[in-house]
Amino acid sequence: MEFSITTLSPETAKAGCVVVGVHSPKELTPAARRLDQASRGALRKALADLPAKTGSTLLLRALPGVAAERVLLVSLGERKEYGEAQYRDAVRAAAAALRELGAKDAALFLVDGKVGSQHITWNVRHAVLGMRDALYRFDQLKTQKKAASPALERVVLPLSAKAPLEQALVEAQATADGIALAKTLGNLPPNVCTPAYLADEAKKLARQFKLGIDVLERADMQKLGMGALLAVTNGSHQPPKLIVLRYAGGPKSAKPVVLVGKGITFDTGGISLKPAGEMDEMKFDMSGAGSVLGAVRALAGMKAPVNVVGVIPTCENMPGGQATRPGDIVTTLSGQTVEILNTDAEGRLILCDALSYAARFDPDVVIDIATLTGACVVALGHVASGLFANDQKLADEIRAAADDAYDRVWQLPLWEDYQEGLRSNFADAANVGGRPGGAITAASFLHRFTRKYRWAHLDVAGTAWKSGREKGSTGRPVPLLVRYVLRHAGRK
Ligand code: BES
Ligand code: MN
Ligand code: ZN
Repeated sequence: MEFSITTLSPETAKAGCVVVGVHSPKELTPAARRLDQASRGALRKALADLPAKTGSTLLLRALPGVAAERVLLVSLGERKEYGEAQYRDAVRAAAAALRELGAKDAALFLVDGKVGSQHITWNVRHAVLGMRDALYRFDQLKTQKKAASPALERVVLPLSAKAPLEQALVEAQATADGIALAKTLGNLPPNVCTPAYLADEAKKLARQFKLGIDVLERADMQKLGMGALLAVTNGSHQPPKLIVLRYAGGPKSAKPVVLVGKGITFDTGGISLKPAGEMDEMKFDMSGAGSVLGAVRALAGMKAPVNVVGVIPTCENMPGGQATRPGDIVTTLSGQTVEILNTDAEGRLILCDALSYAARFDPDVVIDIATLTGACVVALGHVASGLFANDQKLADEIRAAADDAYDRVWQLPLWEDYQEGLRSNFADAANVGGRPGGAITAASFLHRFTRKYRWAHLDVAGTAWKSGREKGSTGRPVPLLVRYVLRHAGRK
């Protein structure tokens, strides 16, 4: 789908469908008013059939005096309640309605209204991201594809083209490509999306966008002494990989942002086996890795003036005769020893070695992204990702970027007091604390390996995918990561 910015009038636009907003009760936006005037009140007359609820839609055909064959009215709710969430709902609803009616091209007049205190560039970004999100489909493994109707090909955002808006458009389209990649990697089944598959995807990105790439194999990990990562992969027949992807779009002197993504392509729990219910969802346990590939793709795709390194430790967590046992003690790359009391707390084990490895890139900041704990889902539900940081300024920057991207986070503490929970009688630390504060003890475990640089940890266990009828990857937190890196480099 292609987006463009062009000045258009709603009544003369030759789009397949013109989309305009209406506030309740019956309060027309400027574009809707122009259509109403052009059609001598026909639009207003139809309003009785448009429900007040934000995101309700009503299709009008062949309005007199209007060039476009179809006009889609979208309810924006009450004007005084209209804000970011309502705008995003309206955009998604418009996308869904356009798909239903099989429109090939549309002019989206929703973008020109004021949304809260946001700049119009925000509207452009969220129009693109909202529509691409709503129209994403994963049906490559279904023999019967859904909806034979032609897909929406072109969307015009009717604004007067200016450099910052064009830049926002380019950034948003590249971000949407990155989100789609993260979603698809998450949605692919675990018998397809293996560690080797992720490494091949990274190699493809490297070729397409001229990125630097290294893939470390088991032997490399053994040489380096990544005892924790190696312990997790023991029970699996799939060889582990450590993927390093480098995008250098910024000045040589600028230290990179290093993104570290948990890439467990399937988490059975290992010998500490998970119960059967919903275990299939543990294919999404590589979502952190997917979000790193997605963010790198987005930033490279938009040619962002930034330096980013993606580091992805990836393997399976399986039971078996070779699998790590509860009670095993391993030596991590940092030299610290860890008593593995629960093999299901594997994310922190692969991450701790990857985080130690990240130091070699002389990072400006390191951010890890991981579907790390069920406890984080209990704490924050499916709305906010958990945020932890060893530097408050970094946490504040990430929080601001997350709000901007509407890919929100909530900070949890990382006080030293929590280290007590990880005490082991036999090693430097245990890999689990008790049930209390499970997301925090997990973060505190990682904190032991990130003392040498500015670091933040995003626990996306509750936000990276949806369960139930709408089961599927969300692509989060790609929007946040891209926004953070751009803002950090001085882009608005
Ligand atoms: N991948 C899971 C975390 C998870 C669980 C994400 C459920 C989303 C939904 C992680 O590897 C895990 O198993 N964590 C354990 C940690 C525990 C053993 C300390 C958990 O959360 O139960
Ligand atoms: Mn686990
Ligand atoms: Zn896991």
